[in-house]
Amino acid sequence: MGGQCEPIAVIGTGYVGLVTAAGFAQLGNEVWCVDIDADKIARLERGEVPIYERGLAECLEQNRERLHFSTELSAALEHARLLFVAVGTPPTYSGDADLSAVNAVVAAMPQSDRHALVMKSTVPVGTGAAIRRILAEQGKEGFAYVSCPEFLKEGSALADFLEPDRVVVGDDGDWAGDAVVDLYAPLGAPLVRTDVASAEMIKLAANAFLATKISFINEIANVCEETGADVVEVARGMGLDKRIGSSFLKPGLGFGGSCFPKDVSALKQLAGNSGYHFQLLTAVIEVNELQKRRVVGKLQKHLGSLVGKKVALLGLAFKPHTDDMREASSLVLAARLQADGANVSAYDPVAEGEARKLMVGVQFAGGALEALGDADACVIVTEWPEFTELDWRQAAEQMAGTLVVDGRNCLDPAAVRAAGLTYEGVGRAGAP
Ligand SMILES: NC(=O)c1ccc[n+]([C@@H]2O[C@H](COP(=O)([O-])OP(=O)(O)OC[C@H]3O[C@@H](n4cnc5c(N)ncnc54)[C@H](O)[C@@H]3O)[C@@H](O)[C@H]2O)c1
Repeated sequence: MGGQCEPIAVIGTGYVGLVTAAGFAQLGNEVWCVDIDADKIARLERGEVPIYERGLAECLEQNRERLHFSTELSAALEHARLLFVAVGTPPTYSGDADLSAVNAVVAAMPQSDRHALVMKSTVPVGTGAAIRRILAEQGKEGFAYVSCPEFLKEGSALADFLEPDRVVVGDDGDWAGDAVVDLYAPLGAPLVRTDVASAEMIKLAANAFLATKISFINEIANVCEETGADVVEVARGMGLDKRIGSSFLKPGLGFGGSCFPKDVSALKQLAGNSGYHFQLLTAVIEVNELQKRRVVGKLQKHLGSLVGKKVALLGLAFKPHTDDMREASSLVLAARLQADGANVSAYDPVAEGEARKLMVGVQFAGGALEALGDADACVIVTEWPEFTELDWRQAAEQMAGTLVVDGRNCLDPAAVRAAGLTYEGVGRAGAP
């Protein structure tokens, strides 16, 4: 693999598109970014970064002269032959992936034999084949197509982009696949070069497997609560087995975010549409939904009726180090608590702006201690480091009650108890 700089285009400047653009600019490539959201493009042109992601603002600033932003495709088509597609593919009501944004991009392509669409968006298996069919029907068969799924994790997205575990390139063995391989060569990552359908499936299967691991350890945690074992010890003992590995073995309030829920559901639907009933994924989804609600039972166990009780939620984003609120467990939890008559206060270090739009009737605080003021109970929803470092004696002074539900098992139970508080983790019934 030689490795070369070449101008590229990125269509869709959300979490994946912007990180992809920043990453390739960091590697020395000119990047032409296109989005239909004129406000987003105007902000990016002014040097503002619309999302929170560690190191992203600095990376965009450092590489400003190589990054170009526009709502128009024309400059991108003029300068770049590889057009990375990173538009959203949210779930439809049926659980299938909504491909309308992808289809809009395909429809906007001109006739060309020097361009390629490089699909970063997560799409069902068969999408690449369908797109090539559509391009051919429109007389654009000269357009090449590459599947190049993205595996970055929000919260460490730029680092993941620059140091990927692997790069997957699915193509027809033509110039476009070679060009994408060359573009990624400087990262020195293991390469999986394969056909388009297999590349599409690798992405869906990887996310479904990780989600399965989470639901599995959540069920083990629930059994631990019934039997007196401590799931933190259990996960440590399991994770040291190299065949299992320790990542994604952390029980909590269930998985959320813009990827796992929709990708698991999309794979289940894809299987169903092809005549196969994917039983395991049905259970993974159900366990996850129940897990988000279990915390309400824990609150009721200690507080009785929640009517008129104040519950403080610490952390709102679906995971730390991001402001992404899509499918966050905090949304389900706040709504459940309000439905049971509780008053909900909340604090998140970076997600308040997004959360305010989604959480009606919640009282937002400027800090953790403020959110805990007069609270009967506190729930750690997102494991931001500032909550693990909280002074629990100070916290206890603020609270009216004593209950701390550690929804992410991120606190030191002894420190919480030493402050005179009652500690409830996930799957830690037997913990000291
Ligand atoms: N967020 C993640 O962690 C992650 C990780 C891996 C893969 N993915 C996949 O990558 C894709 C993008 O995800 P995201 O989280 O970045 O989405 P996002 O919603 O943050 O960004 C999508 C962007 O595309 C823009 N857009 C929509 N239609 C467009 C069009 N026709 N032309 C140009 N721009 C258009 C939107 O305005 C938006 O800015 C999805 O398929 C997702 O499943 C996401």
